[in-house]
Amino acid sequence: MNNPLDQTTPQTTPNADIASLFSGELSANPFPFFAQMREMGAVVPIPFPIGGDIRAWMVTRIEEAVRILKDHEHFTVDPRSIGADDFLRQRFAGTSDDTFTARSSMISVDEPDHRRLRGLVSKVFTPRYMESLRSRVQEIADELLDEVQGQGQMDIVESYAFPLPINVISEMLGVPKKDRPQIRAWSEAMVTGGGMMGRSEDGIAGMRAFSTYTRHLVAEKRKQPQNDLISQLIAIEEEGDRLSEMELLSMITLLIFAGHETTSNLIGLGTLMLLDHSDQLAMLKADLSLVPSAVEELLRFNGPVTMPVPRFATEDIELAGQQIKKGDVLITALISANRDERQFTDPDELNIARTLNRHVAFGQGIHICLGAPLARLEGDIAFTTLLKRMPNVHLSVPRETITWRVSGNLRGLTVLPVAF
Ligand code: HEM
Repeated sequence: MNNPLDQTTPQTTPNADIASLFSGELSANPFPFFAQMREMGAVVPIPFPIGGDIRAWMVTRIEEAVRILKDHEHFTVDPRSIGADDFLRQRFAGTSDDTFTARSSMISVDEPDHRRLRGLVSKVFTPRYMESLRSRVQEIADELLDEVQGQGQMDIVESYAFPLPINVISEMLGVPKKDRPQIRAWSEAMVTGGGMMGRSEDGIAGMRAFSTYTRHLVAEKRKQPQNDLISQLIAIEEEGDRLSEMELLSMITLLIFAGHETTSNLIGLGTLMLLDHSDQLAMLKADLSLVPSAVEELLRFNGPVTMPVPRFATEDIELAGQQIKKGDVLITALISANRDERQFTDPDELNIARTLNRHVAFGQGIHICLGAPLARLEGDIAFTTLLKRMPNVHLSVPRETITWRVSGNLRGLTVLPVAF
């Protein structure tokens, strides 16, 4: 690596490392790589993952990460707003208006559209509203464990971590039960066939199929509205001036996708982290009131989202000694910021009783995760119920056989076989 103090020559990370990061090869343990990056600087030039002459930077430390995510004047999520639409076309290569997932949802637009879109659904994602869902989420968790309790073993990913969040978000939105396995397959294709390196054919096909599905679902609900969030959003769209059809479709796809993919990884990955740290697991089992704090620590220690949507500089600006130019791309490495030794004591240690834990696993600023209260509730119930009902839970395969889903910016496991 280059000398981090030598500011006279531009420092770039070796292409091979960055390529393996974005292709997901480093999924199992990206932390030594990020530790080196943090040492190199808070804002480090990197080769642009999908090529082209765009200048890209990786933001490695927490102070700068928060600054960028909160500074909506100098950084935008929407390359169209600075005339850099080519990036979008490259990034989602092969997509068009029939695959609208990322084009018009709140996560890809700035104010004032962002506020308008988020405002339409924010009431059903408040911590208070979430508490009203607690007993239903608990029922779902218990039903899932009822199915496997007698078998003495299960794949946590298949039987618990995946179905819990997708059943919850689907009930909120009104997605029929029979469609949920198919949604999982499309999401899987989108996760493993997409990301910072551009999209594979499977990824594009998954996106298209998911988009077509959402269109059909909306058409069905238009004919027969029900007491669910999708029907409420359709009613708003039909009023005419607060939500366009494209925004409606994008919003629904985003909520379904973000509503299960991430939390499912928190539950799977979080369980593995607890099994890896037997002292922490024992402490938690002895006092389940520590679960909410354990959830925060698991999010910090090994959160499911490596990086949020890239930001673009809206004008030339100096950042951590680097000259950022208008149009440059900034990739904020949340999982690096969450291990920043400037903020956390012993950052590489899992400490479920950590008191000062201001992590950025949910992002920061106006795009901070809408579903964080839901994810926290699901995490709380998932770990509490698992440890209460199966206190003897342990891996049933050798640790080294656990495989990771290969994805550029989301992290999770393919399977997690346990016995109990
Ligand atoms: C452990 C679970 C989760 C993690 C780690 C997570 C992480 C994140 C992060 C980092 C962002 C910021 C993206 C950015 O700034 O570019 C985000 C945004 C978002 N998340 Fe989550 N998320 C989780 C669960 C959920 C759930 C359950 C939902 C439910 C619908 C959800 C819905 C959203 C939405 C709609 C946004 C966009 C918000 C906006 O742009 O205003 N997420 N999430």
